[in-house]
Amino acid sequence: MSEEGAAVGDAASPPPGAAASPPSAPAEEQPVAAAGEEGKAGGEAPAAEGRRYRALVLTGFGGYEKVKLQTRQLPGAQPSPAAGQVSVQVRACGLNFADLLARQGLYERLPPPPVSPGMEAAGTVVAAGEGVASPKVGDKVMVLARSGLWQEVVTVPANQTFLMPEGMSFEEAAAFLVNYITAYMVLFDFGNLRSNQSVLVHMAAGGVGTAAVQLCQTVENVTIFGTASASKHDALRENGVTHPIDYRTADYVEEVRKISPKGVDVVLDPLGGSDTTKGFNLLKPMGKLVTYGVANLLTGQRKNLMAMAKTWWNQFSINALQLLHLNKAVCGYHLGYLDEEVELISSVVTKLIALYSQGKIKPKVDSVWPFEQVVDAMKRMQEKKNIGKVVLVPEAPQKDESKTTEN
Ligand SMILES: NC(=O)c1ccc[n+]([C@@H]2O[C@H](COP(=O)([O-])OP(=O)(O)OC[C@H]3O[C@@H](n4cnc5c(N)ncnc54)[C@H](OP(=O)(O)O)[C@@H]3O)[C@@H](O)[C@H]2O)c1
Repeated sequence: MSEEGAAVGDAASPPPGAAASPPSAPAEEQPVAAAGEEGKAGGEAPAAEGRRYRALVLTGFGGYEKVKLQTRQLPGAQPSPAAGQVSVQVRACGLNFADLLARQGLYERLPPPPVSPGMEAAGTVVAAGEGVASPKVGDKVMVLARSGLWQEVVTVPANQTFLMPEGMSFEEAAAFLVNYITAYMVLFDFGNLRSNQSVLVHMAAGGVGTAAVQLCQTVENVTIFGTASASKHDALRENGVTHPIDYRTADYVEEVRKISPKGVDVVLDPLGGSDTTKGFNLLKPMGKLVTYGVANLLTGQRKNLMAMAKTWWNQFSINALQLLHLNKAVCGYHLGYLDEEVELISSVVTKLIALYSQGKIKPKVDSVWPFEQVVDAMKRMQEKKNIGKVVLVPEAPQKDESKTTEN
């Protein structure tokens, strides 16, 4: 992990309510000084009182080395959010599968590099702009944005923050929004999951998968088929998966049909390509497939053109008449394109916080990594080792720098 001192800015003009901005005037780049090079960046001495803070920055598309830790500087001692915005001292950030795709240039919702990635974080409000009644300075919040949250200090519209419920840690909070909003909306808004039904959850030990499995159990008597590497099957059972399937050594379609010859009621499809077709064929009459990812695109550290071609070649396609004859539904979900649906997302978060407070859902944090170890964090997910959420923190955790957590 290297530190680099070139001046960088996030999206030049992100759409309203989308990306987090640097915590000072977003239209002009702030001078950035490399660690140990105070006052040199931008060719001018930065204001002596300007607060320095660290940010992870994607400097270009490619391998792990494209993510750098940089030091930036505010014009003043404290951030000064504009009207309707708040500034947050970030304590933990979520790593999402989309961040791996984004690094390779495969996630279209990330503004072009150089850009600070990061769609979710948690921290404490340190400043509130004019007209912001909530959250208040000192409140602990979760933050959702299109990008820009892997920084020690971020400034976002107040309506992109959500108060953390009592008893929730910053690490849990960084594992909450993206995974649970996605899982909730695909299972209930699109999937319409009801009691005595069955669900196939792919990547069941991952962030969204773990959340989906927990949410399935808020409905009575749901049979959960969950795919994951064999080493994760004990964890799957513990989390509530009825039938863990090792998709790496067995044909998951056959495995499902051995137990449920008619198939399943709901398929959650984060894989894309030929897996969407397999999922669709596994649906019972009146079944629903919700597609929400293309994990099959990711085969290594860099963009794989063969995998891309194969995935797109096998892309599922169907027409309305075929759907009519088959009595099945196909839905597509992308949280990244719902960023202007503030009320809709807020209503889902309210329901999720209630479920958390009732003890019905609890984020599973796989591991916590300081910003300096962002490469190790990304490897953990890309090498299929995580069970639950991979979390980044600006400050090194006290016990040990990067170890897996029990929760
Ligand atoms: N549409 C949306 O709004 C939205 C929002 C959030 C997430 N998603 C999608 O949901 C899926 C899960 O996301 P997540 O952030 O929770 O990640 P995650 O599930 O924690 O991802 C890592 C795990 O996925 C499994 N995996 C399957 N194929 C893989 C591949 N090609 N490369 C690496 N790992 C692979 C691995 O476990 P096993 O192999 O052991 O299963 C790995 O440990 C992704 O497809 C993501 O893009 C979509």
